[in-house]
Amino acid sequence: MIPSSTIADVRALVTDTRAIGAGVSVISLECPGIAATARPGNFVNVKVNASSQPLLRRPFCIHDVRGNTIDIMVKTVGRGTSLLCEATCGTGLLVLGPLGNSFGIETGEFDTALLVSGGIGTAPMLFLEKSLSARGIPFLNLVGGRTRTDLLTRGLSNCSTATDDGSEGFHGNVVELLKHQIASGNAPGRHKVFACGPNPMLKALARFCAASSIPCELSLESVMGCGVGICYGCMVELNNADGEKERILLCREGPVIDGNRFTA
Ligand SMILES: Cc1cc2nc3c(=O)[nH]c(=O)nc-3n(C[C@H](O)[C@H](O)[C@H](O)COP(=O)(O)OP(=O)(O)OC[C@H]3O[C@@H](n4cnc5c(N)ncnc54)[C@H](O)[C@@H]3O)c2cc1C
Ligand code: FES
Repeated sequence: MIPSSTIADVRALVTDTRAIGAGVSVISLECPGIAATARPGNFVNVKVNASSQPLLRRPFCIHDVRGNTIDIMVKTVGRGTSLLCEATCGTGLLVLGPLGNSFGIETGEFDTALLVSGGIGTAPMLFLEKSLSARGIPFLNLVGGRTRTDLLTRGLSNCSTATDDGSEGFHGNVVELLKHQIASGNAPGRHKVFACGPNPMLKALARFCAASSIPCELSLESVMGCGVGICYGCMVELNNADGEKERILLCREGPVIDGNRFTA
């Protein structure tokens, strides 16, 4: 969890917007304070326009950090994301962040990081791979989608892909690709999985990792209002250490959780 003293609420300048296909855009926001303290896995809560509608901000993973700029990768799914993707260069948007916890990459408990993502869940992986690279930690990106146009591999390195329809890469889902890569010996040493994507994918992944004793961290989503533990809108039910169900505020205790909490 980010100390509240490092969370900034700033008017960030939109410096670039790039449509990259499949209803997805990458938006660059100049916000030096957030860029300086962001860690991979953190998110920002963005007011998508200057109007009172939509009222609530929308949460987005930090896709990349470049100097004073953060990038977010936004998939259009409704009114807020549609308005955000229409933002033009020079627009000022209110951005709160960095928020939430981050991926655990400094533990020394693994030799190769396996970055497993599906659909728009690939958004946090570029910042994560850059942070791993900076520490000299080997990694492999495994990216899944229903079909080839869903694969958001732009900018990623060491990348293998899987599509449900076999139109690109491995024919199957990304969890099957992970099993295949491990069985083929393509990822040396001890593994740790870092993942983001749709819940059914994350559940299957969590179960495989638990059965294989592979440490695993998942970045989850829920509907979020405030992003800082005030509105109680982001409650999710997870396993606790005793195997019982407990409810947590995902914006405060997540969005990154231990995979063992998501197996049931
Ligand atoms: C921690 C976190 C990180 C995320 N990172 C990304 C990202 O990097 N890229 C990306 O494209 N999307 C990301 N999302 C999802 C994104 O926030 C939602 O797609 C967006 O808020 C939908 O807004 P909308 O107004 O376009 O959709 P709406 O028209 O409001 O609803 C469309 C769908 O989005 C869901 N939704 C609505 N509001 C929210 C909300 N505040 N939070 C979550 N889901 C909501 C609704 O349940 C519905 O299924 C993230 C969500 C969370 C919680
Ligand atoms: S989003 Fe408001 S409490 Fe989590």
